[in-house]
Amino acid sequence: MNAMPEKTIWADDGRVSIIDQTRLPGDFHKMEVKTVGEMWEAIKSLRVRGAPAIGIAAAFGVWIAVKHLRAEDSLPLDQAIENACSYLATARPTAVNLFWALDRVRKLAKANTDLPHNKLQRLVLAEAEAMLAEDYEICTAIGRHGAGLLEDGHRILTHCNAGGLATAGYGTALAPVYYAVEKLGKHLEVFADETRPLLQGARLTSWELVRASIPVTLICDNMAAVVLRNGWVNAVIVGTDRVARNGDFANKIGTYGLAVLAREHNVPLYVAAPLSSIDISLSSGAEIPIEERNADEITSLHGLKIAPEGVKVFNPAFDVTPHRLVTAFITEKGIVRPSYEKNLTALFD
Ligand code: MRU
Repeated sequence: MNAMPEKTIWADDGRVSIIDQTRLPGDFHKMEVKTVGEMWEAIKSLRVRGAPAIGIAAAFGVWIAVKHLRAEDSLPLDQAIENACSYLATARPTAVNLFWALDRVRKLAKANTDLPHNKLQRLVLAEAEAMLAEDYEICTAIGRHGAGLLEDGHRILTHCNAGGLATAGYGTALAPVYYAVEKLGKHLEVFADETRPLLQGARLTSWELVRASIPVTLICDNMAAVVLRNGWVNAVIVGTDRVARNGDFANKIGTYGLAVLAREHNVPLYVAAPLSSIDISLSSGAEIPIEERNADEITSLHGLKIAPEGVKVFNPAFDVTPHRLVTAFITEKGIVRPSYEKNLTALFD
């Protein structure tokens, strides 16, 4: 079997394309992203989403912004790159991968200001393509390390989508599952939280797993407690948008509740985190900016009003889980256990 999911973003013949994830699972639609404004919109509206994927998408967005600039244009190329980076950084605040990727492009541009336009433009494209290739390898490494935590017959509960659609490869949280099934021949089953309000678990995670022929049971978020109490789950594995150096981490809203439930039922909570999601500059999760999104994501479902006009709404896209609830992080460099402050920091030595 081939568990490797579809490419979520790619560049071909000078064109950048993505799968429009807002149309899944009903419509598998590939769209070309032609302007930096379209890339900003694609990230903001979650056409491309998931922490690693939005970083890579933003890097391609910078290239789209400057690829037609000529030496005779009034805006210097390094200034145009900086403008594109600043603009794309406003698309979403929580996933640190976005800023990590844009900083990589910025540094590249600063180190090569003397190059002719076409050479620097090619370097920006090559950097975005390198991020794609690296992320593929990182996902595989997370899969290899994480698969060692899973035994034949295990059942895994996950939240949101941290699969291939959210990355350039196997995903993060789903990588250990894909790796264990595909490379090690283990039989695993997954419970997928539907993940209100935007249903990434129902629309994306269960779509990916069904495509990969991995048994998946979809549950509403409020069913996780019963599934855990019934003893049906051996491990909870989630992805992350940002990890502070003390191990507190932000992930899709609902993750914190799931972490509390996992602890109550003595089920390990593993957080799959590439180093690009670890923000060593933050001392704790209290410093992670949490995106709040439009009220209509909660008051409407596929255009149908499900709440009265004028009702007050709270719609944080992410929550922060304290490090004491995390059993271990699964990174591309291996499994990281407490003490997190020391062991996460050591990953960057
Ligand atoms: O709002 P989204 O869909 O971008 O949120 C995504 C998540 O919270 C994922 O779990 C996280 O980015 C990890 S993706 C590998």
